[in-house]
Amino acid sequence: MKNITYKKLSETQRKLLDAAEKAMKTAYNPYSHFLVGAALLSENGKTFTGSNVENAGYSSTICAERSAIVSANAKGVRVFDKVAIIARGDTFDTKDITSPCGVCRQMLFELAQISGKDLEVIMSSTKKDKIVIATIKELLPLGFGPKDIFVDVKKYR
Ligand code: THU
Repeated sequence: MKNITYKKLSETQRKLLDAAEKAMKTAYNPYSHFLVGAALLSENGKTFTGSNVENAGYSSTICAERSAIVSANAKGVRVFDKVAIIARGDTFDTKDITSPCGVCRQMLFELAQISGKDLEVIMSSTKKDKIVIATIKELLPLGFGPKDIFVDVKKYR
């Protein structure tokens, strides 16, 4: 896990974070008034984005990360290298990074095992003046995944 500046990110990482920022603006957030954007980078260089989609039955809300995952899956893509996450409030900027919730960590962990590699997670504050890079294994140590129930992960790539 490390802190990094926007300038020090690779061009690929910067573009991914910028894509997440763009997606953030599409958040449907009538309840929390919080906007989150996520962008997944596939193994072959394609970007899939998502934003949080809330619901009057609060627990039905889907986070930005999982929106991006289902969007990629709809195109048959499940093998990823990286994911970028950024957020803000309707009326405020975040000072600190936004990191994926527990449910999203679990979903990202699944993808990491399917992908056959640890997934890089880039987490940013609204103004991109605080950025942390970690891996999904760092965010979900000893995670439970498809391999634990003997799924042939290669079959789902
Ligand atoms: N949210 C995300 O989309 N991703 C996260 O990583 C954290 C939380 C959303 C869910 C809800 O719409 C709002 O942020 C407030 O929790």
